[in-house]
Amino acid sequence: MSSNSFGHLFTVTTFGESHGPAIGCVVDGCPPGIELAVEDFAHDLARRATGKTRHTSARREADEVEILSGVYEGVTTGTPIALLIRNTDARSKDYGSIARQFRPGHADYTYWQKYGIRDPRGGGRSSARETTMRVAAAVIAKKWLNDRFGVRVRGYLSQLGDIVPAQFDSAAIDFDVVESNPFFWPDASQVPELEAYMDALRKSGDSVGARATAVADGVPPGWGEPVYGKLDGDLAAAMMSINAVKGVEIGAGFASIAQRGSEHRDLMTAQGFASNHAGGVLGGISTGQQIVVSTAFKPTSSLRLPADGLDVDGNVVEVVTTGRHDPCVGIRATPICEAMLALVLMDHALRHRAQCGDVGDVTPRIAGRIGG
Ligand SMILES: Cc1cc2nc3c(=O)[nH]c(=O)nc-3n(C[C@H](O)[C@H](O)[C@H](O)COP(=O)(O)O)c2cc1C
Repeated sequence: MSSNSFGHLFTVTTFGESHGPAIGCVVDGCPPGIELAVEDFAHDLARRATGKTRHTSARREADEVEILSGVYEGVTTGTPIALLIRNTDARSKDYGSIARQFRPGHADYTYWQKYGIRDPRGGGRSSARETTMRVAAAVIAKKWLNDRFGVRVRGYLSQLGDIVPAQFDSAAIDFDVVESNPFFWPDASQVPELEAYMDALRKSGDSVGARATAVADGVPPGWGEPVYGKLDGDLAAAMMSINAVKGVEIGAGFASIAQRGSEHRDLMTAQGFASNHAGGVLGGISTGQQIVVSTAFKPTSSLRLPADGLDVDGNVVEVVTTGRHDPCVGIRATPICEAMLALVLMDHALRHRAQCGDVGDVTPRIAGRIGG
């Protein structure tokens, strides 16, 4: 009922608040025998972390994972894996002034209406601090998917405000470039432009939205379940569960509206699919092509720019948010989108194995898009 858990066979339950003593998760249903050490988490957690560049929030969390259970002698045992990360850099006094006010665009008002109480420190449970544990849980999923099937889950930023990458064909992204700049941007030549854009935005006190794209290569055909467990349906729900998400597209997404059927349908040729407008999913089931999921993030709502607002007693107040905030939440969203993609795929891989593991190869597989 309370919806802090995710997944059917590979389940993740997260707990904790932004400024509480710790955040954590319990991963249940994990196959035994996966090598797992605290060092495995460092890379992806650092990619999601704040305080690494001037373009994200200045909060500096160590994000050191403690494995409390489910791993024995460096290997998963099949029992629940409990992961804990202690919050070490919370600064709750920044939130004193808004404890009884509602930030426009944030979750303060809805949490107050629903629960009649809220933890205002850093946004409490509504803070994207919670997504740290999704990224941690997905480290296990990414590892198993890669070891078992050669699946690679990666992502990049595909729009920042009105700036789009010069190169944004998901099948041709250079992920070394993506990982070499703080924006996860696929075109290195545009990084100075992004730096200047973000510097000006930060000075203005305003914020902006962004689009992140997550892709999975190597997913075999057959994952996903009709009709209420469609792979694309689960992906949409998973992405929408990330803070600040306002839209999700699979493959051609909303561009499909203006396409003709003759253009949109991905022709099957002896050499492979001729295109991938479907984004790797047909009928809710993976085609074996690259899975492509794009997610729209709204601009950060916590602004130091004053705005008229209301407090919990209905009084008109001036709302000004101090504290450390991301001027563009989408910049750090890439690893979070990857995490949700990996968690959905892991769950569906296990579900497919459970019901259809004996079906085997009934027809030759069609290769992914020709040339990429
Ligand atoms: C990576 C990431 C970082 C975020 N950082 C902030 C932030 O610094 N300040 C803020 O007001 N909102 C931030 N958000 C967004 C809020 O958590 C979110 O807007 C809020 O909980 C309301 O939920 P909703 O936007 O999903 O409706 C962030 C979101 C993400 C994904």
